[in-house]
Amino acid sequence: MRPIADHTRKAFAQVEEFVRKFYETAEKGDPGTESGMTNEKKKGDPVPAQGRDDMVSGVTNAIRDGAPGANAETAPVAVILDSGCGTGESTIHIARRFPGIPVIGIDKSCARLNKAGNPSQTAGEDVPANAFWIRAELLDFWRLALEHVKSGKWTIPYHAVYYPNPWPKQSEATRRFHMHPIFPTLLALGETIELRTNWEIYAREFAEAARIVYDEAAKGDSAPEQVRGDKEAGITDAAGMTIKCESFDPEKPETAFERKYKEARQKLWRVTVSHF
Ligand SMILES: C[S@@+](CC[C@H](N)C(=O)[O-])C[C@H]1O[C@@H](n2cnc3c(N)ncnc32)[C@H](O)[C@@H]1O
Repeated sequence: MRPIADHTRKAFAQVEEFVRKFYETAEKGDPGTESGMTNEKKKGDPVPAQGRDDMVSGVTNAIRDGAPGANAETAPVAVILDSGCGTGESTIHIARRFPGIPVIGIDKSCARLNKAGNPSQTAGEDVPANAFWIRAELLDFWRLALEHVKSGKWTIPYHAVYYPNPWPKQSEATRRFHMHPIFPTLLALGETIELRTNWEIYAREFAEAARIVYDEAAKGDSAPEQVRGDKEAGITDAAGMTIKCESFDPEKPETAFERKYKEARQKLWRVTVSHF
C-alpha cells in the first residue's frame, strides 16, 4: 500500500525512455552491434549514456517476428531485468546472452553502480548497447514494471535475482523477498525468474514460497491442476509453471558475489520459476 517513491518513478521513466529508444533505433533497421558503439558509462554517474543514436540491436519482439496482429502501437516489447545487480557485472553477461533485448540492471547502491561497466568487467570490450543501469528501489520498481506487463506494454522473458541480501536473522526474515508482501508481484513479473544464492535454505524457501503462491492461485482457478513434483530433482510442476531448485557450479562467475563464494568453495544454489 506504500505510495511509490518519486525517485523510483523518475528512474522508471528513464528506463522507459531507454527501452523506447532502443527499439526505435532497431526499428530503423540498424543492422547489428558491430559498429563500434560504446554506450559508455560516465564516471561518477550510475546511469550510462542512454538513448544514443549509435545504439543498435536486433529486436526479438512480436513486431519484428511478424506475429499476427502485432503492430508497433500495441505489441508488448521484451525487457529483461537484473534486480539487485550490485556492481552490474551480471547485467553485461545477460546483455550478451540476449543481444536483442534491453537488459536493465537495478540497484539502490550508488557506490556499487558506479563500478558498472568498468574495463575489468568487459574484458576490454565495449559495454553492450542493450545494457542499462539505474538506481532505484526494487520493491517500487517491480510494482511499476508489473503495471507495464499487465497493460501489455512490456513482457519480461527473463528476470535475474542474483544473490539478494539473505537477511539471515530470524527477526529479519520477513525482509527476504519471498516472505515479503511483494513476492506475488515479483512472480507475476517475468516469464522465467532465476534466483541465485549461496544459502541452501534461502533457495528452498524461495522455491516453496513460489509453490504456495501458485497453489493458492490455482485454488481460485476454475480448472486447477494438481501440483505435481519430483522432489529428488528439485522440480515442482504446478498450474502453468515449473519450479526448479538445484545446486550449480558456474564455470565463470557472473557477479562479484558469485566470484567471492566460488573462491571460498561455497556451494551455490539456483531456483528457476518458469511460466509456460
Ligand atoms: C548481496 S548484493 C548482490 C549484488 C550482485 N547481484 C552480485 O551478485 O554481486 C545485493 C544487492 O542488492 C541491492 N539491494 C538490496 N535490496 C534492494 C532494494 N530493495 N532495492 C534496490 N537494491 C537492493 C544491494 O544494494 C546490493 O547491491
